[in-house]
Amino acid sequence: MIISLADGRQIPMEMHRVKIVQKINLLPATQRLECLKAVGYNTFLLPSREVFLDMLTDSGTNAMSDNQLAAMMVADDAYAGSESFYKLERTVKKVFGFDYTLPVHQGRAAEHLLVKVLLKPSQVVLNNYHFPSTRVHVEILGSQILDLVGDNALIPTGNDPFKGNIDITKLKNAVKEYGPDRIAFIRMEATTNLIGGQPFSMQNLREVNKVARDNGILLILDGSLIGENAYFIKKREEGYTHKSIQEILAEMMSYVDIYYMSGRKSGGARGGLIATNHKEHFDHLMNWLPVYEGFSTYGGMSTKEIEAMAVGLDEMTQTEVAGSSPEFIKFFVERLQQYGVPVVTPPGGLACHVDARAILSHIPPLQYPAEALNAALYLISGARGVERGSMSEDRDRDGNEITAKMELVRLAVPRRAFTLGHIEYVADRVAWLNKHKELIGGLKFVQEPPVMRFFFGRLEPLGGDWGAKVVKAFKADFGDDC
Ligand SMILES: Cc1ncc(COP(=O)(O)O)c(C=O)c1O
Repeated sequence: MIISLADGRQIPMEMHRVKIVQKINLLPATQRLECLKAVGYNTFLLPSREVFLDMLTDSGTNAMSDNQLAAMMVADDAYAGSESFYKLERTVKKVFGFDYTLPVHQGRAAEHLLVKVLLKPSQVVLNNYHFPSTRVHVEILGSQILDLVGDNALIPTGNDPFKGNIDITKLKNAVKEYGPDRIAFIRMEATTNLIGGQPFSMQNLREVNKVARDNGILLILDGSLIGENAYFIKKREEGYTHKSIQEILAEMMSYVDIYYMSGRKSGGARGGLIATNHKEHFDHLMNWLPVYEGFSTYGGMSTKEIEAMAVGLDEMTQTEVAGSSPEFIKFFVERLQQYGVPVVTPPGGLACHVDARAILSHIPPLQYPAEALNAALYLISGARGVERGSMSEDRDRDGNEITAKMELVRLAVPRRAFTLGHIEYVADRVAWLNKHKELIGGLKFVQEPPVMRFFFGRLEPLGGDWGAKVVKAFKADFGDDC
């Protein structure tokens, strides 16, 4: 919720109070340099005890409500027929309107099953923008996933409120080029992750649905960040201001054939699900659920997490819950803009995205400027973001590197986990780095995994030990202990 102050400023207000806290540690800068070297400049590999503010992701890192924790205590651990699953099933019906629910252990497990059942090797998937796990699942089968967002979605700045929209002309052209039979399905991703957490509009979903229906193509929605997308529709799309999040969700779901989500984000728990009103798809998917995930009433999830997800999905329909992370992100983005730091605009859901290509224009994309900036931020703040640029792209089939369209550092804002003090601190340190950008150099792989290399890859600094130079300059301004 946004509160106006007497001096005219507006700030996001937490509509909850803190009941349980967890201590975090801020190591001295000199020690952080040792920690970073030990993990080959890949902050993904840092143990969390070495991280002060963990902005790596909003996946499974959100604060739970008292009602979620309470629900976990009454979980029914039955292997088959668990009451916890039936609660989830009832919630999915109430929140999304689907009759059939398949629990899975997380979002990529849903993608695995969907691709296994719906995709043939010669087919393609059309979507607004891929997520890395989706792309790997599709490409493993020798198929292709085509990104059809508008060209402006790949330009970091702008004021298009719905950069996650599929470009309908591109969609119609792709349908013409491949023909409906070669298109396994159209995939819409809510609050599109890789392009800066940018939403699609209801109008766009309606138009995509029409193209899908006219051509007999399945429409699948990845709703891992569905609460935030519904919130953006309410805030930004004409005709939706007075609709509730629940009403917006109901309309969205009326356009899709199959819905899936990682429950770790908007769902506020750790798991995932697939839901549909099509019995035939449900039956096909169900054939494989016990093989890869588990019995139909737990699907690889702990029953405690099923309980937490059922409550989390219900709570997500409250405007202040759906809007909690977007409003903090807006505050973060606007503060960085005041400091003159290039960031992705308009502010999205999920994270504040810093434009590393614009800041570190002296570092070529294949020297991974976004990871260099992210590593440098850890050195001077103890905060950890994640690289979303060329390092997050895997090589193509011929072994060539792919240059990402954007080089971003994603500073995730998990729901209800951080305070405004945390955000102010990280914004201040990013601004300091922006002023000292010439100290930062590029990186090169010394260990490069074949897929999803941003997880486990190890790198070393190019042009000498620039990490030590960054720490030296930082200590001259702030000392070692902060
Ligand atoms: C849009 C989207 N789809 C799928 C996934 C994969 O979900 P999980 O991490 O639960 O496997 C994610 C995870 O971040 C995501 O953001």
